[in-house]
Amino acid sequence: MPIVPTKEILDRAFAARYGVAAINVFNDLTMEAVLAAAEELRAPVILQTSVKHVKMTGVDAMYAMWRAYAGHVSVPTALHLDHCPEREVISACLARGWNSILFDASKLSVEENKRQCAEVVAEARRYGANVEGEIEGFKRTEEMTGDEAEHVQTLETVIDFIKVTGVDVFAPAIGNAHGTYKAAPKLDSQRVTDIVEATGLPVALHGGTGMTPEQFSDLIARGCAKVNISTAVKIAFMKSGYDFMTERPGDYDPPKLFTAQRAAVIEMAKYHIRLFGSEGKAWT
Ligand code: 13P
Repeated sequence: MPIVPTKEILDRAFAARYGVAAINVFNDLTMEAVLAAAEELRAPVILQTSVKHVKMTGVDAMYAMWRAYAGHVSVPTALHLDHCPEREVISACLARGWNSILFDASKLSVEENKRQCAEVVAEARRYGANVEGEIEGFKRTEEMTGDEAEHVQTLETVIDFIKVTGVDVFAPAIGNAHGTYKAAPKLDSQRVTDIVEATGLPVALHGGTGMTPEQFSDLIARGCAKVNISTAVKIAFMKSGYDFMTERPGDYDPPKLFTAQRAAVIEMAKYHIRLFGSEGKAWT
């Protein structure tokens, strides 16, 4: 059962300049399907859980599910808590065994974010876990105004945040957003290079759904070792369910529906793993 530290997965990807798919999962089916895709392609993979789904499922049940499914894969994998502003949820997930968390204090001042993030890093270290940090926050795509890349902190502020807090990976705003882009986003890729050159740390790329293959390869070459995909999972899951029921009205056999949804999620995960260059990169 090669559950490994998130940092180990990211450091290897960063050094060899490939991207690891960090895919949001929200139930047993999506968790198993993403792991199956990674296993088939011999790729390291990170599974991410949102605060909403952790609360909905329960920390213990979510973690038990993860251990049960991860126990059957032979590729390196880690469990990550995505965007979490709530310290109690972070503490509960770290204590239970999550490999890493994203402390999302982007709504706080940078100074307060820095102070609390340093505490979170110290707490994570006690469990051998890793921390992703952010200071700018990400909009939803429908809230974008087109000038996102201009409203960011200075490079000095980013460097200071990383140095003071000791985070393992940083998530900068580069014109990216969560959701479905109306058109390919205009991204400040130079900002990734600047941060990587100044800190030597891997960068987490948020808002992956809908970026072009060229954008992914450029950003991964610059040091985006963690590439987040969430909306594409939801679309694959929901659309395959909708299509199944539309094509077979009156067929109320859940296992058949789940089989169709599992196949769609596996295809989606394999597409991104291949695109990010992590196929065949498993070392366990
Ligand atoms: P998308 O929903 O746009 O794929 O973004 C995923 C993400 O960044 C999760 O934190």
